[in-house]
Amino acid sequence: MPKKRLHQNQNTSKRQIIGIIGGSGFGDFGPLKCLDDQNVVPSRQRIETPYGYAEDILVGVLTGASSSENESSPIIVFMPRHGHEHRLPPHKINYRANIWALKSLGVTNIIAINAVGGIGKNCPPGAIVIPDQLIDYSYGREHTYADQLTDDINHIDFGQPYEHKTRSWLLAGAKRLGLAVEAEGCYACTQGPRLETAAEIQRLKRDGNTLVGMTAMPEAALAKELDLAYASVCIVANWAAGLSSEPISLADIHQVLDQTTDTVKSLLVDVLSDM
Ligand code: HPA
Repeated sequence: MPKKRLHQNQNTSKRQIIGIIGGSGFGDFGPLKCLDDQNVVPSRQRIETPYGYAEDILVGVLTGASSSENESSPIIVFMPRHGHEHRLPPHKINYRANIWALKSLGVTNIIAINAVGGIGKNCPPGAIVIPDQLIDYSYGREHTYADQLTDDINHIDFGQPYEHKTRSWLLAGAKRLGLAVEAEGCYACTQGPRLETAAEIQRLKRDGNTLVGMTAMPEAALAKELDLAYASVCIVANWAAGLSSEPISLADIHQVLDQTTDTVKSLLVDVLSDM
């Protein structure tokens, strides 16, 4: 188990510590004011773990929320999954180091942001979905902390990969803001980095998936292994392969993500401010 922790002082000791993992189009979290108090980790950290380094971690509070009047506002640990400059493809991300680093900083709940393709009719480009299930089709990734021989292997219960309470924070925030958010979805995690064939998407659809992305796994399972509550906000960037008459273009994906990211940031600000 990770031992290193954020040292909290009198102003921060009662605060919850929430991890935000940013995905494609979400390399920064604007409303974050970094704490530079000597008692908390300063900005853009590289954290060493037994599995290598977790990079580009920001620790802070929401802008305007660090004053003594708002001592209950959470400390936020922001981690851009693909790195600050978005150079890590999904299969090269060091998921084990990332989740270990969040745990070691005292994070209790993770909100992951994932760009996805839409498979379900209710998941067109621009939709925001809080998934409740996933199916893992990825392979060859370092997917567990149980990598040593042991008499005591931990078979985590992964029946509900997304944690109920963290999901309900997100759904309540969307309701307060009047945001149209899909409250359920099944995320197919493919290996990438290529997009899928049309036949693969038909198979994923038959399997019951409504979303397809490349980064939910092993992230969600590693969080569960370390007893971290994990939920996701999926931003649908495109119709999955074969579901639209248009070819999938990266330019269109980025345009949709650019248009939707601010809405997701306002959802996060609302949820984090309500704690
Ligand atoms: N497939 C897989 N991952 C994705 C997609 C997609 O269509 N769009 C965004 N991430």
